Amino acid sequence: MPSVDDISNRILVDEKATVAFGGELHDVIRRLCGESAVVYLHGDLGAGKTTLVRGILRLMNHSGAVKSPTYTLLEPYQTDKGDVFHFDLYRLKSPEELEFLGFDEIFEGPGFKFVEWPAQGAGWLPPANVEVSLSLYAPNQTDEEPADSVAQMQRKVSVRFA
Ligand SMILES: Nc1ncnc2c1ncn2[C@@H]1O[C@H](COP(=O)(O)OP(=O)(O)OP(=O)(O)O)[C@@H](O)[C@H]1O
Ligand SMILES: [Mg+2]
Repeated sequence: MPSVDDISNRILVDEKATVAFGGELHDVIRRLCGESAVVYLHGDLGAGKTTLVRGILRLMNHSGAVKSPTYTLLEPYQTDKGDVFHFDLYRLKSPEELEFLGFDEIFEGPGFKFVEWPAQGAGWLPPANVEVSLSLYAPNQTDEEPADSVAQMQRKVSVRFA
């Protein structure tokens, strides 16, 4: 079983590593937060936030597709290990819109709530139990050698529990 220290800072060399990290993160969140947690996912476009949620859902035995909720704002999942609510607030117009959509009930209930672009819901979203930050990482970058193209880049992740 991974500990909080094990997962607090990691380099993820490829997409598979991000998916696997999601599984480890799931174990620790469940141990520390139980059946209900609000998890903010920070990171630029393409940082790997949705990939991480895919890894978590795999570990919860969800076998279907995991689509980015960019246009729908929310993709809900029922798994045999509990409910998952995956939000992507990139296209949210104002934080109040979350209430019009009835999302307040979701945040009051059980389940894991993963939120991409949480700053878009600032002032309305409940505080996070866990904050995850993903960023691009260029392992071969030196002064002489410029950064690799984004497609070749790895990812760095850090996790902080409230
Ligand atoms: N550790 C990694 N190393 C290299 N590529 C990765 C890694 N993890 C994920 N990726 C790739 O990064 C791309 C973008 O991932 P993803 O859609 O998860 O990003 P996102 O943070 O959710 O972006 P958005 O904000 O647009 O929703 C995907 O092509 C995925 O395969
Ligand atoms: Mg995404």
